[in-house]
Amino acid sequence: MSGQTQAQQSEHFEFTAENLQKTKEHIAKYPEGRQASAVMPLLDIAQRQNGGWLPQAGIRCVATMLDMPVIRVLEVASFYTMYNLAPVGEHFVQVCTTTPCWLRGSDDIVSACKNKLGINMGETTQDGKFTIIEVECLGACANAPMMQIGDDYYEDLTADTTTKVLDALQAGDTPTPGPQSGRKKSEPAGGLTSLQETS
Ligand code: FES
Repeated sequence: MSGQTQAQQSEHFEFTAENLQKTKEHIAKYPEGRQASAVMPLLDIAQRQNGGWLPQAGIRCVATMLDMPVIRVLEVASFYTMYNLAPVGEHFVQVCTTTPCWLRGSDDIVSACKNKLGINMGETTQDGKFTIIEVECLGACANAPMMQIGDDYYEDLTADTTTKVLDALQAGDTPTPGPQSGRKKSEPAGGLTSLQETS
């Protein structure tokens, strides 16, 4: 979808019937008068419906539904990196560069992304397939360094495995999320260090 088409779309936003039902379910979780607590999931639903980014009209729509000032909703949408206020690529790549990931080589992951895709951080490829950004800790430090692509975490990365993940996405495949080192979840990389006795 071209940026112009998306800009035109941003003039108007309304939830689909299915998504409207989801928003009602979230709003119903909170007591009367506290519906503003549903702002984050509603923004998330709006963003998913709009191809990965939040148009101003979507923010206004959420504000109206929750009886919130638009600026309050915009404050939430602009604070968290999970919300995009401008169009992003089909594959939204967030590389964690906070200290644990940095100590484990996130500079190499950033370079691998830039080299593979030919763009800098914060940019989108010409074909609209990939956007790459640096983000703060994504809560998977035990599997550092890591990146999030869409809803999936790719962990225990090296420059080589990062390139392989991006290669697979470029080929239209869905690489298996999780550790790319072969280890299971966040088990000790060198094998068990305790509880080794069987009796
Ligand atoms: S520092 Fe990268 S996931 Fe926590």
